[in-house]
Amino acid sequence: MKDYIIAGNWKMFKTVEESISFITQLDEKLGAAGHFPDDLIEVLVFPPFTSLYPVKGLSPRIKTGAQDFYFEDQGAYTGEISPLMLKNVVDYVLIGHSERRQLFHESDENINKKIKAALVHGFIPVLCIGETLEEREAGKTFARIEEQLAKDLCGLTPGEAARIVIAYEPIWAIGTGRNASPEQAQEAHAFIRKILHEKTGNPEIVRILYGGSVKPENSLAILSQNDINGVLVGGASLKVDAFSVIIENSVQLLNSSIR
Ligand code: PGA
Repeated sequence: MKDYIIAGNWKMFKTVEESISFITQLDEKLGAAGHFPDDLIEVLVFPPFTSLYPVKGLSPRIKTGAQDFYFEDQGAYTGEISPLMLKNVVDYVLIGHSERRQLFHESDENINKKIKAALVHGFIPVLCIGETLEEREAGKTFARIEEQLAKDLCGLTPGEAARIVIAYEPIWAIGTGRNASPEQAQEAHAFIRKILHEKTGNPEIVRILYGGSVKPENSLAILSQNDINGVLVGGASLKVDAFSVIIENSVQLLNSSIR
């Protein structure tokens, strides 16, 4: 039996009103299905900053996270949001998403500082890593993953590394409709688990999510893989119906593994 995290990354979508409506509807849907096993399945969404406080406390079953933050507590950093401002608002922070790396030139050095700041302030960091299409075609997928993990988790104690959630998101699969096959994802996840085993001393403890064109139709096959502890969903997390099918699939898998 294993537990799952089903996470939705809303990116730059949804106004405050739309966010409140989404959380309210999703909560009703999860509640309507009878007992929701929230001790075994974590439902998590990453709304834009403006919606985080308005949706706080709207659902006992849905956790929230910030899509990014800056690592300093306060200062002259126009436009940035600090960990102190997110305290008691969110449980998770997404760090190093490929859109932040590519469009906003986020460096591994900054990502490492953000991971450390998140841990100091008691957030669970969800670190995104993954290779480009060129790297995959050149046979450099594992080398890229290894390099990102070495730089992004540099200086962490085994106990700190164990608190991190990893999201493996091959860049060629994000928003393209072209997901990694369940086997490709499993292979990368097993490799990531091996590296995290070396860092933490425990192969089971780190949770590794797959992200990249996860949809209701492919979620069951992806979630059934041994080393996949959940999914980070972009586009399909914006619609209550699609996102709840992915959640239901995780419930179904959990029920079948209990039997
Ligand atoms: P996608 O996005 O599901 O739309 O491919 C995933 C992500 O960027 O986290």
